[in-house]
Amino acid sequence: MTMAEQQIATSVLVIGTGGGGLRAAIELAERGVEVLALGKRPRNDAHTSLAAGGINAALATMDPEDTWQQHAADTLQESYLLANPDTVRIVAEGAAQGIADLERYGMPFAREADGRISQRFFGAHTYRRAAFAGDYTGLEIQRTLVNRAVQLGVPILDNVYVTRILVRDNTVFGAYGFDLDTGKRYVIHADSVILAAGGHTRIWRRTSSRRDENTGDSFRLAVTAGGRIRDPELVQFHPSGLIEPENAAGTLVSEAARGEGGQLKNALGERFMARYDAERMELSTRDRVALAAYTEIKEGRGTPKGGVWLDVSHLPRETIMQRLPRVYQTLLELQMLDITQQPIEIAPTAHYSMGGVWVRAEDHSTGVDGLYALGEAASGLHGANRLGGNSLIELLVFGRIVGEEAAKYSVNRESQQRSAEVVGEARAEVDGLLASDGPENVRALQRALRDTLTARAGVVRDEAGLLAGIEELEAIEERTAQVGVHPDIAGFQDLAHAFDLKSSALSARATLDAALERRESRGCHNRSDYPDLDESLQVNLVWSGPGQITRERIPAIPADIRALMRDEISTEGKLVE
Ligand code: FUM
Repeated sequence: MTMAEQQIATSVLVIGTGGGGLRAAIELAERGVEVLALGKRPRNDAHTSLAAGGINAALATMDPEDTWQQHAADTLQESYLLANPDTVRIVAEGAAQGIADLERYGMPFAREADGRISQRFFGAHTYRRAAFAGDYTGLEIQRTLVNRAVQLGVPILDNVYVTRILVRDNTVFGAYGFDLDTGKRYVIHADSVILAAGGHTRIWRRTSSRRDENTGDSFRLAVTAGGRIRDPELVQFHPSGLIEPENAAGTLVSEAARGEGGQLKNALGERFMARYDAERMELSTRDRVALAAYTEIKEGRGTPKGGVWLDVSHLPRETIMQRLPRVYQTLLELQMLDITQQPIEIAPTAHYSMGGVWVRAEDHSTGVDGLYALGEAASGLHGANRLGGNSLIELLVFGRIVGEEAAKYSVNRESQQRSAEVVGEARAEVDGLLASDGPENVRALQRALRDTLTARAGVVRDEAGLLAGIEELEAIEERTAQVGVHPDIAGFQDLAHAFDLKSSALSARATLDAALERRESRGCHNRSDYPDLDESLQVNLVWSGPGQITRERIPAIPADIRALMRDEISTEGKLVE
C-alpha cells in the first residue's frame, strides 16, 4: 500500500541544500519569491561543508596585479580549452560580488593584520587568489548561507530524497520524493526546479565524497526529465586522498597543504614533481600532480601501501595549526598521526565532476522549460581540469544568477500544467522498488559498480578497459533487476540506496561512453592508447542515453583573455605509461 503522501505547492523548488542550492534560495527569498529547498542530508552537513582550502576571486588583496581577466585566462588555460569562455567570464567577473555577498551574510574570512581578506596560492594560479577560512572554507560558507537562509525564513526540508522531477510537455511542474526517516512521500508542485544535487564521484571506490554523496542523482534526475549530460568523462582526481583507514579511503587532504609549502615525495625520498613540472613543482596543475603520483606508484616508487608522501612537517607548527587545522585534526582522528612530525601517505582520489548536466552558459537553463542546474551538477566552467577554489565561487556566482532567472521564469508564468499520469509513474516507481524482494543486495551491487569504474575508468584509461567496463556494468544492471529493498525501523535508507544505484549506473554508463569517445589525452582524461591531444576533439561531448553522444562546438575565447594565456596547451610532463 502506498504510504501517506503530502502535497506541497511552491513557486520555485531547489533540490540540494549545499552552497549552490542555498545561494539560489537566498536570491529567490530576497526577491520576494516563494521557495522551498530540499536536501537528502542535514543542511549543516551538505557536501559543501567538506570543501577545504579556498574560494577564488581576483580581489588583488595580496597581489595587486591580479584581475578578473587573468582569473578567466588561468581557468581557460587549465581547462585545456574545454571550458566555455562565456561561463568562465561570468564567474571570473562576478567573483568579487560573490565574496561581497558572503561578507554581507557574515562569513568569517581569514584576514591580514590590516583587515584585508587573505588570499593563498592554489595550483596553477598566476596570483594568490584563494580566499579562505583556515582549511574549513566550505564549512564556514555552508554555515553562513544556512544562517542567511534561516534569517530570510526560507523553508528547508532535510532528509528528503527526490526520486523524479515531474515534467509535462518538456515543462517541469515539480518533483516527487520521500522522507528518509519515515518514508512519507512528497508531491511538490512548482513552476520551476533548480537542480543543485552534486556530481557523480561516488561511482569510484576511492573518493573524497562520503558514502551517500555525489552518487549521480543530478544526472539521473536531469536525464529522466529530458535533459542531457555534458563531458561526464571529465572527472578530477585530486592528488591527495588518504589511503587508510579503508572505510574513509579517499578522504581529502586539502591542496592548501601544498599551497602552504607541503612537499610530495616518493618512497625513495625524491621530490618527484621535479620529473614532471620542475618549474611549478607541487603547485603544478591538479591533473599533472595526480598523474605524477599515479605514475610514481605504478612504476614501483610508491610506498608499500600504494601511495606517496605528502610532507608538511618542515613547516612552522603555527602555520599548520592556523592554516591547516582540518588536515591536522583529520589525521589525528583517522590515523593518530601528527602531521607536524610525520608525512602523510596519500594517493589520487575521485574528487570533482567537471562535466555535468548540459546548461546554457548565461542562465543555466537545461533545455527543459523551468529546469535549471547549478554547481557540481552543471557543466561549462572547468573543462578538462578544474582550478582548485573555482567550484566554491561558481556556487556563489551561479547561485545568484540561477535564483534570479528562476524567479523571473516563475513570475512570468501564466499557468502551471500538471499531469496526474506523470505523478502516478513517479509513485509507481517507488512502490515497485518497495515491493522488490529479490536476492540481490543493493550495497553489494554498488560496490561492484565502484570496483568496475575504479579498474576501468580511473586516472588512466584505454579502449579495452572501457569496453570491458561497459560489459561489466551491463551485468550489474541485469542483477539490479533482482534486488531486494528492505526499509526497516531505522528508516528508508535501503530505498535511497536503490535509487542511488540507479543514478550511479546511469552516470557510469555516461562516463564510460564518453571516455571511449574521447580518443585523446587531455587534462584529467588520460588515454594510454591515445597519449596525445587531438585538436579535433577540442569539443564538448554531450550524452543523451547509452551510446548516444554528440559533439558540441565551444565558443571562441575573446582576444583580450586569449592574450593573457600562455601559448601552449600541451601534455608535456604527462607520462602516461
Ligand atoms: O584541496 C582542496 O582544498 C580542494 C579545493 C577544491 O577542490 O576547490
